[in-house]
Amino acid sequence: MDRVKFNDALEMSRLVYGMWRLGDDADTSVDHIRNKISACLDQGITTMDQADIYGGYEAEEILGSALTPELRNQIEIVTKCDIVAPVGRYSNARVKYYDTSRAHILSSVDHSLRLMKIDHIDLLLIHRPDPLMDACETGAALDEVVASGKVRAVGVSNFRPWDWELLQASMKTPLVTNQIEISLLHHAPFANGDIAFHQKNGQPPMAWSPLGGGSLFEPKNAALRTALKTIGDDHGVDEAAVAVAWLLAHPARILPVLGTNNLDRIARIGDAAKIQIDRETWFDLYTHALGHEVA
Ligand SMILES: NC(=O)c1ccc[n+]([C@@H]2O[C@H](COP(=O)([O-])OP(=O)(O)OC[C@H]3O[C@@H](n4cnc5c(N)ncnc54)[C@H](OP(=O)(O)O)[C@@H]3O)[C@@H](O)[C@H]2O)c1
Repeated sequence: MDRVKFNDALEMSRLVYGMWRLGDDADTSVDHIRNKISACLDQGITTMDQADIYGGYEAEEILGSALTPELRNQIEIVTKCDIVAPVGRYSNARVKYYDTSRAHILSSVDHSLRLMKIDHIDLLLIHRPDPLMDACETGAALDEVVASGKVRAVGVSNFRPWDWELLQASMKTPLVTNQIEISLLHHAPFANGDIAFHQKNGQPPMAWSPLGGGSLFEPKNAALRTALKTIGDDHGVDEAAVAVAWLLAHPARILPVLGTNNLDRIARIGDAAKIQIDRETWFDLYTHALGHEVA
């Protein structure tokens, strides 16, 4: 499995396992979580993507219950903060909102460390751009969590280039990545400047919902699925692997974050890295995704 080096303290696997849906699984037993992580490790997938809010602020604790010191040492843990939703520990909130204040970031990091029973977070992301962000305060708080050793690297999620520049200008620590939605069903970032911005700066972006959160498999996408299946049959992999390989083929070095709860599918996430999508095939799929040929 290809690995991406973000800085001297952080390297991640090119394919990442996302834990947003961890708590939705009928089986959240320690054994089942360990089996999922083992299935990832067997393929060289060492990076696990979390967020404080996942599972109503409970997914981190589910992961923490399954982590042994040995397992923790084999993985990198990404988590996020700033979304406050009126559930779980924030059930008193009147409304869902974003909080990029120093107090919230520091307290969220401490919660995450405690719930996952770990002594550092490998990568902390600001989950969503906050219209009330005071970049100086947020940037200083991110510098502070890195300096304290509680966090190895920091980045953002769902930021546009101007949000990134605003925050980065107020920080000493370089932001290392932006986790954004990218897939055959959400391909705007290839043309709207989001990917180009990070490619220019040498910051590999992470792609959330690379299978459209499962909507790729809906009947309305039958033609795209047929194209994926035809390519997959030629390479001995399934359609999901081809959809992810389509992201891997881009020179920005995108890191797809897969979220299946199905053990058989988890065991096949790595298939995407076994095939090469050439230029013509890439455009064949892009044409299906656009619904028309390129100009
Ligand atoms: N930063 C952000 O704002 C943000 C937002 C959303 C997600 N994320 C991250 O991205 C990760 C991945 O997101 P995601 O779960 O939406 O990604 P995804 O991999 O695009 O979608 C996973 C969904 O697709 C279904 N699926 C996968 N393969 C399938 C197949 N062959 N046939 C039918 N259904 C299939 C899965 O169902 P099964 O479980 O039944 O396989 C699951 O419900 C999350 O876990 C989270 O870590 C980040």
